[in-house]
Amino acid sequence: MRHILAATFSGIRDYVAAEFSLARLAWSMLCVIANVLHSKQQRYMFMFYVIRSAAPVGLIVVLFTASGCQRSEPVQWAASAQVQALAPELAATVSAAVQANSGTVLVPKMLTDVVPKLEREKYARELTLKHGQDVYMKRCVQCHGVSGDGNGPVAGSLYPRPRDYRRGIFKFTSTPYGSRPRREDLMATLDRGIVGTSMPSFSLLPRKDIESVVDYVLVLAQRGELEYQLANEAEASEELLEEDVPDYVEVVVNNWREAEISLTQPLTPQPELTPERVKLGREAFLSKGCSKCHGEDGRGHTKDNIGKDSWGHSTRAADLTSGMLHGGQEPVDIYRRIMNGINGTPMPGFKSSLESEPETIWNLVSYVLSVSNRRREGTAIPAGLIKPYAEPVEVAAE
Ligand code: HEC
Ligand code: HEC
Repeated sequence: MRHILAATFSGIRDYVAAEFSLARLAWSMLCVIANVLHSKQQRYMFMFYVIRSAAPVGLIVVLFTASGCQRSEPVQWAASAQVQALAPELAATVSAAVQANSGTVLVPKMLTDVVPKLEREKYARELTLKHGQDVYMKRCVQCHGVSGDGNGPVAGSLYPRPRDYRRGIFKFTSTPYGSRPRREDLMATLDRGIVGTSMPSFSLLPRKDIESVVDYVLVLAQRGELEYQLANEAEASEELLEEDVPDYVEVVVNNWREAEISLTQPLTPQPELTPERVKLGREAFLSKGCSKCHGEDGRGHTKDNIGKDSWGHSTRAADLTSGMLHGGQEPVDIYRRIMNGINGTPMPGFKSSLESEPETIWNLVSYVLSVSNRRREGTAIPAGLIKPYAEPVEVAAE
């Protein structure tokens, strides 16, 4: 109903604007005034002055028109490259199915939302998502792009690249390897930012803004994931049956709902992180394969330390001595990184290999924390002394 009213009003407004343009109105007013002036000479003088003083305004109008000043196109979520590569008809079917479930930029919908019965609540939810969209378009779109593809105008010059939300893969989660993040994880990322990357902290924004922009990120992520699933199906079987779409929607919805109830807690309570544990942690760091990627000194300067992430960009194991842990500095954050790995990157989860020795995980946490501020303290090996990537790094004396 609201949309119909809005459409009707804007229709009337456009009609009035087209029929009674400002220029026409101004011209008739001038003619009336000119007719009131009696002598021909008076009239010519009057028109001359009007035209002379209106010339700069006219010039500005002409410049604006020439530079393409017109009503702007409404923003739209672009179809992914994968969808665009499909046959045109198939691509249209996929896009229509995505739109039917995730809405449009004008009316975004979250797949996991349970649609409320009351009209009032439905409207309130719509407003929240629109508010989230406003915040997103002001503060996130430069990096993360309109459709959440991580390809905003400045993305090309950033390393690491801003997250492409559309696969549902997030790095800093409190859920098992391969799972979606919990909503809380995204809130935490916004609160603390990702230290050491261009992802800023938004902790100073009003709570309402953070809450609703996270919801909007969820809309984009779920929409992107559905699009990805449908495009895969369309690619594989060269068709997309309408009756199959709800199954794919259900897969995406289940992925996200399951994450909400999959919080991983440490297997044992956090002990005191003593120097003794740091020593044991270092031994584990060398024997459990961490040093293979992170280097024996934790600086990541090893020859194998280069890989690709799930988004196709090159990546390398973190320099643990930099004091900039991306996923949070709390012991439990580091614990979860070790236990669950980092989605989309070569950093594996060690749950299966360390489950039987939970204390080792805390020892590793102690060690990571102890090296984490080396560079800041000036006790890390200076970069100049580090051998080039091609050669293995010597063991740093403890
Ligand atoms: C200046 C660029 C920039 C801006 C602005 C920005 N981000 Fe990011 N964001 C990044 C980068 C870069 C990463 C990836 C960091 C990495 O891979 O370690 C990222 C990652 C993320 C992640 C993924 C975290 C994870 O666990 O994988 C989320 C969620 C996110 N940003 C949300 C937002 C939201 C919401 C806003 C706006 C309120 C925003 N970002 C604004 C650059 C930016
Ligand atoms: C196969 C290579 C590989 C192995 C083995 C590996 N890591 Fe990592 N690790 C990575 C990569 C890559 C990253 C950076 C991921 C990113 O943020 O893009 C990383 C990041 C980290 C981080 C930083 C997380 C943050 O918040 O920034 C910690 C801590 C860490 N690894 C600890 C360990 C420990 C402890 C082990 C051994 C139990 C280990 N890693 C084994 C590749 C590896």
